[in-house]
Amino acid sequence: MAKIVVHITGSVAAFKAVTVVRLLQKQHHQVRVVMTKAATQLVGPATLASLTHYPVLTDLWKPAAAGQIPHIGLADWADYSIVVPASADVIAKLALGIADDPVTTTLLATPTPIVIVPAMNTHMYHQAATQRNLAQLRQDGKIILDPVHGQLAEGYTGDGRMPEPATIANFLNDLMASETTLANKTVLVSLGGTVAPIDPVRFIGNRSSGKMGWAIAKAALQMGAHVIVVAGRISINLPAENDRLTIKRVQTTQEMYEALAKEFPKSDILVMAAAVADFQVSSYTDQKIKKHSADQTLDLHLKPAVDILKTLGAQKSHQIVVGFAAETQAVLQNAQQKLAAKHADMIVANDVSGQQTGFNVDDNQVTLLRKDQAPETWPLTSKTAIGQRLMNVISKMME
Ligand code: PMT
Repeated sequence: MAKIVVHITGSVAAFKAVTVVRLLQKQHHQVRVVMTKAATQLVGPATLASLTHYPVLTDLWKPAAAGQIPHIGLADWADYSIVVPASADVIAKLALGIADDPVTTTLLATPTPIVIVPAMNTHMYHQAATQRNLAQLRQDGKIILDPVHGQLAEGYTGDGRMPEPATIANFLNDLMASETTLANKTVLVSLGGTVAPIDPVRFIGNRSSGKMGWAIAKAALQMGAHVIVVAGRISINLPAENDRLTIKRVQTTQEMYEALAKEFPKSDILVMAAAVADFQVSSYTDQKIKKHSADQTLDLHLKPAVDILKTLGAQKSHQIVVGFAAETQAVLQNAQQKLAAKHADMIVANDVSGQQTGFNVDDNQVTLLRKDQAPETWPLTSKTAIGQRLMNVISKMME
């Protein structure tokens, strides 16, 4: 049984939130409700107050009992919060951290998981601004239950329809169940790119943003694991460390190897999503290499860097070891070879030759390769969704 705050905002699907509240109560959860002013035009707070036997927070300025700050009280009380339905307006405010009504103010003060269920007109949903705001919320660690395609209140069909209340309640229950799946487990995730320094100002690097690896780390955190992230060069912001998240920053392949090798023996899962430099410059120059003439050329000699996955894969005892394969041709054949050569339990193959998948984009398309199993190809989807699905597969492999 969990303590759940249901936030209702101004979308016509607000009436369905009443059924969501009922279903959560039937599943023995304690529910309290917060509503925006717009939501109160669509469904009556009195209905929700009688169902929950608790006042509904609709006004931040209503006199509260002495010493009480109702929105902070609710934020501290919640094990989980769900915004159902989430209007485009509230999504935009949450993405920016604006707190100017009971819903956004309570959510900004909420440290526990927040599920957002968008519901709106299809054109509003597909607006670049809405998609940008949802991407921001995903990156901030909020959990989005995507709307479905179907009949809209406007009388035509399209994306943006809120999933049915039973689907929403089940999603929340599955999320709660999954939150303990990896309790007491340590998940080690490498992400971003490592570099091969040439001189104090130059290096050879790659285009990894860290998005794929962070999606995996986030999913592992949501499943209750202690997560150790070893991050090379990245273009995303990582959150602050906490009691379940440790972050180590590195630059070179050797540094990444040393950081991972130190944590590997006490880890249960290693996922190598980092784009690791296979080579290092043979003779690093500790002064900037000068250019003396217009026709001057420069030859760099490269030597192999340590193969981290292969080295740690060969040392594994109880750990599940997962690598990625970034390929531009013969994707599956090359990835299959890496599965055996690197002693991995699974290789996640991704084609990095195009613009839509692979490096520095929000989506990816992957195929899982495991020993003695047929390849499993997943459709093009968000890296967040792949991270969640992948961690589910890995946790089942642990069983
Ligand atoms: O960070 P993003 O912008 O989101 O992009 C994601 C990604 C494309 C970087 C990611 O999905 C990915 O494919 N990561 C692996 C990149 C890579 O180095 O692939 P590879 O095929 O060269 O290496 C195979 C595996 O061995 C990888 O798990 C890699 O981390 C590991 N490796 C490679 C070389 C090396 N010297 N040591 C290693 O451990």
